[in-house]
Amino acid sequence: MKLIETFQNTFNRDPILKAKAPGRVNLIGEHTDYNDGFVMPIAIQYVVTVLAAPRDDGHVNLYSVDFDAHSTFNMDNEIPHDETQTWSNYERGVFAGFLKRGMKSIGADLLIQGNVPIGAGLSSSAAIEMATSVALRTLNNFDISQVELVKLSQEAENQFVGMNCGIMDQFISGMGQAGKSLFLDCRSLEFELVPFPSDDFSVVIMNTKVKRELTGTEYNERRSQCEEGVRILQKNLPDIRALRDVSVQQFNQYKDELPELVCNRCTHVVRENDRVEQFVRALKAKNSARMGELLLASHSDLRDLYEVSCKELDLMVEIAMGVEGVIGARMTGAGFGGCAIAVVQKGREKALEDVIMVQYPAKTGIQPEVYISAPSDGAGVKMLNQ
Ligand code: GLA
Repeated sequence: MKLIETFQNTFNRDPILKAKAPGRVNLIGEHTDYNDGFVMPIAIQYVVTVLAAPRDDGHVNLYSVDFDAHSTFNMDNEIPHDETQTWSNYERGVFAGFLKRGMKSIGADLLIQGNVPIGAGLSSSAAIEMATSVALRTLNNFDISQVELVKLSQEAENQFVGMNCGIMDQFISGMGQAGKSLFLDCRSLEFELVPFPSDDFSVVIMNTKVKRELTGTEYNERRSQCEEGVRILQKNLPDIRALRDVSVQQFNQYKDELPELVCNRCTHVVRENDRVEQFVRALKAKNSARMGELLLASHSDLRDLYEVSCKELDLMVEIAMGVEGVIGARMTGAGFGGCAIAVVQKGREKALEDVIMVQYPAKTGIQPEVYISAPSDGAGVKMLNQ
């Protein structure tokens, strides 16, 4: 059934707008965003769609097509968490974010549907938050910029959902552009949209189908280890505020002061920031050999030093690297499962997919999924004819 009909059947009325926001993969710059560093994601063709109509009674009725479930609250009271329909806390967090900015939304009927694979590390939650944010901005005529909606969405995740993520996922979901990768400074939020040479290369996304329950705790632990590294390094480098401020050279000079585990974590972050800048140069020059080296170096540091990979992700990368035309591969996103990406020569996508579909299940017993996606547009709204 078409989504609009589902809305009509659910709410007995027509939606007035359709909002969309994409998931993402990160080309390089992993676990750098919360260290004030650099990232380089692309928005993908998988999206979350929100259909919306305003209500004048203050009620907010949420319907998730994917979970076939409802959740309801009223704008006249404080917005509570929904402990049973936990999927709705992403939307609730966005309503709360507007409220915090003095923008009280009118009531609304919202239908939410997504084709971003859930729990695969492709940022389905950022896509839900951004789609809801742009929908509410239009529904209420709120005067708020796209970047402010990005921050609001990150806050929803940090403060309402309780996942202490950085800004990368919401930023690319809000600000991505078709055909471009986004080189972002996560401290200043200055960014450059770098054309992705789609005539030469493609990004292939390989889903291990492994989900790790521990992602949240491990993630927060990595964050505090990085912060501990900064505190110790500050004795010799008093001006640094985050690992982003430490050059590879400076780090090598003072790293012996750090406990081994903290040193390993920080080594990855300091080198990864450097790799992002190098990758941008290599991509602009279409220097595929250099791009490949940087992707592989990123993966090995994430595996050996940051310890956020897993054997299935390592296997994906290994299989991909054995296929002709694959330039480089690495895990993408938070890790502990989820997806790896490969950058491949144009025309070699299918060959890689075929090999993955045979070799990965043979070695793991798990059926993987492979997606091929061009860099896509960030969140936006279309008014529907009534
Ligand atoms: C998750 C977080 C991001 C980022 C990545 C790792 O996707 O949501 O903010 O930290 O992990 O690079």
